[in-house]
Amino acid sequence: MKILITGGAGFIGSNLVKAMLQHPQIDKVRVLDNFATGFKKNLEPFLANPSFEFIEGDIRKLEDCLNACKGMDAVCHQAALGSVPRSINDPLQTHDVNVNGFVNMLDAARINNIKRFVYASSSSVYGDLTESPKVETKVGKVLSPYASTKMTNELYAESYAKCYGMTICGFRYFNVFGPNQDPNGPYAAVIPLFIKSALTHSSPTINGDGTITRDFTPVTNVVNINISGLLTELVGAKHYVFNVACGNTTNLNDIWKLIKDLTNSGAEAIHGPQRPGDILFSLADINHAKQLLNYEPESDLHKEMVNTIEWYKLNIANS
Ligand SMILES: NC(=O)c1ccc[n+]([C@@H]2O[C@H](COP(=O)([O-])OP(=O)(O)OC[C@H]3O[C@@H](n4cnc5c(N)ncnc54)[C@H](O)[C@@H]3O)[C@@H](O)[C@H]2O)c1
Repeated sequence: MKILITGGAGFIGSNLVKAMLQHPQIDKVRVLDNFATGFKKNLEPFLANPSFEFIEGDIRKLEDCLNACKGMDAVCHQAALGSVPRSINDPLQTHDVNVNGFVNMLDAARINNIKRFVYASSSSVYGDLTESPKVETKVGKVLSPYASTKMTNELYAESYAKCYGMTICGFRYFNVFGPNQDPNGPYAAVIPLFIKSALTHSSPTINGDGTITRDFTPVTNVVNINISGLLTELVGAKHYVFNVACGNTTNLNDIWKLIKDLTNSGAEAIHGPQRPGDILFSLADINHAKQLLNYEPESDLHKEMVNTIEWYKLNIANS
């Protein structure tokens, strides 16, 4: 199978490239990325591999999407502008990449007769829904422009599956962490920020009182489910949506304590204001993915955090 990964220079995308190049059923991996938030260094380990190809391009340009889809059997669409605060600061840019870019990719796949398309949605689509755990069939009202873009992706995926006979899987990722996640810049995610603070003995800011909870998931789970979504036989051309998480919940104070203990850091957290647009409590029901895609998440947060911290220790000086 020949797979196009968009956003392959980013955190999740580069972990996907690594795993797919080692997979016996995948003989070619092509990446489309414009390095908006991704890095050349994430692709360097693959450049000499004859099964790997890189195309520098922008999903906002249909021509780049058409070119990247040529000769591919399936699309794994990860490219987007992440971060709720970024979307609140610049909703138009987030819309342009996350919605216009998304529809370009769907249409480029359609025009190239590609029938399997998997993509990154987000737990943000659950918005203000208070019910817990979150089940795929029920969402709330969105709380940010970022969440609106991911919700819109799901609507377009639904219509493309129905109108053009495509099999499409949307994965609602819940706070992913692991190697290659960027700890720098104003929109860095909480785990890389905490690890960087711990390793540099500087105080991290916890937004709010630290009791907001997340279903943190190691990137290996995201990688495995994307590959299952690409390779599993699914009945009928349809749009499927799956939660991708561990089915456990941890609050921010506890995740900071775990990181602090594992790094023997003397840094002390300070508390800042709650961020607008943030969901307060997040916990996934993962039974749908277990049933249809044989999803068996690695949920040992402690073990995965140890591995992740090791990666940051080796890489933080260069990041
Ligand atoms: N990391 C998480 O916890 C999380 C949670 C929910 C959903 N997601 C989604 O997963 C996907 C991957 O996220 P990530 O954490 O790896 O982010 P990332 O920023 O590390 O990766 C995104 C990649 O997309 C590329 N990209 C951005 N705009 C582009 C454009 N116009 N054309 C081509 N490439 C472009 C970037 O350069 C980058 O390499 C995104 O769709 C994100 O919304 C991530």
